[in-house]
Amino acid sequence: MESNKKQWGSHFGFLMAAVGSAVGLGNLWGFPYKMGSHGGFAFLVIYLVLAVFVGYVIMMGELTIGRRSGKGAIGAYKEISEKYAIVGWMAYICPYLILSFYSMLGGWCLRYAVANIGNLFDASWGTAGQDSGTFFTNLYLSQSTSTIYTVIFIVLTALIVMGGVSGGIEKFSKYAMPALFFMLIIVIIRSVTLPGAVEGLKFMFKPDFSVFQGMGWLSVLASAGGQMFFSLSLGMGIMITYGAYLPKETSIEKSSLIIPACDTLIALMAGVAVMPAVFAFGMEPGGGPGLLFVTLQAVFAEMGAIGPVFGFILYFLVFIAAITSSISLLEVSTAVLTDRAEAKGQVADRKKITLINTAIVLVLGIFVSLDGLGTYFPQILGQPDWLDSFDLISEGILMPLGALITSLILGWGLGGDWLEEEIAQNGNKFSSKGFTVFCLRFIAPIGMVLILAGQINSFFGLGWF
Ligand code: PHE
Repeated sequence: MESNKKQWGSHFGFLMAAVGSAVGLGNLWGFPYKMGSHGGFAFLVIYLVLAVFVGYVIMMGELTIGRRSGKGAIGAYKEISEKYAIVGWMAYICPYLILSFYSMLGGWCLRYAVANIGNLFDASWGTAGQDSGTFFTNLYLSQSTSTIYTVIFIVLTALIVMGGVSGGIEKFSKYAMPALFFMLIIVIIRSVTLPGAVEGLKFMFKPDFSVFQGMGWLSVLASAGGQMFFSLSLGMGIMITYGAYLPKETSIEKSSLIIPACDTLIALMAGVAVMPAVFAFGMEPGGGPGLLFVTLQAVFAEMGAIGPVFGFILYFLVFIAAITSSISLLEVSTAVLTDRAEAKGQVADRKKITLINTAIVLVLGIFVSLDGLGTYFPQILGQPDWLDSFDLISEGILMPLGALITSLILGWGLGGDWLEEEIAQNGNKFSSKGFTVFCLRFIAPIGMVLILAGQINSFFGLGWF
């Protein structure tokens, strides 16, 4: 039965799915601004070093844990040792939490794509003459609109996941990712040919070593590390799950290089698409929701008659980036429940399992939307809104902690030979064995502790560095 087939159909398909998971909102609204405000080219160098010494080795570790066990996060850690099941549980919980707010943000992208089409016809369902700040405020304050788009996003995610690993996730990613790339190029061409665009390129690329003064370098390192780690979708069972569907002849080593390379390339391209336009229209650069939902929409409004066309392309592109990430999130819990059913000797019903997970995500996602970015519900965990509270538990604590423990298990517990047994099969070599083990033992744990500290520091505004 197609829906129970648990293997990628092709190496390209797997890569597109994994790159699709990695490329998301983080690449578009996180990377360009962080790079520009944290040292430009100097930030990029640090980011790349971290991606190689920490990202590459943890990615390889997760893919290996997954393929070796052929199971989802909990089962895969259990296979190593019963006592590590807790790490699997930590990874299993995160996707529910992340999906709850990621779906709302993805839904908003859809709303913006629709609004830009509306603007082409001066329709009432466009931005209807409101400035972009007002349009955004009205969107998140409207519990009904925000919830409807969140639900649409979750349902679309569920439909793709229901289609199966190769019939749904892979098939979608195989077309969506090249389409995203193509759309990004169109936006880049428009952006860099605007008068004054060069200021945006300077903002992103000009090396600024002053950010390293005093304790500054620690904050650059933590910011680059946090960005790298979230952007590569590590520490939450995604690469374990996607690794479980890999055939034995695929080179895990090469894939672990290609995925971060593509992710970084797209993050850089996103910066080149966005920052020159922001500067060309004399707007303040920024990051996060403000950049995506306020500044950029203002840019499209300024562009004249062609603005809504580029607006639609950009928001649709971000929507695709978000949905290929959200399907990877939903697949983590799908795999865990599938393992559970199979362990009981049942035939896992993918549709039923996806429906159960979707119901959980719907409840959480609707709560986050109804919160209206902290307008309607009481604060929890000292965060301004529920989005940040859920983000704190997952991205702030459980994910970096899980990745830290994983690097220790791999580096000190299992060791290079264990990894080699799985990686060097069917004629594949494990050429970076010495490097990988060294990094997993020393550099990745130190990096992950710093990233964890950086996350707690920024969520609670502690001003440590
Ligand atoms: N990597 C995605 C991004 O850059 C986000 C993500 C994180 C997706 C964790 C899934 C899991 O936005």
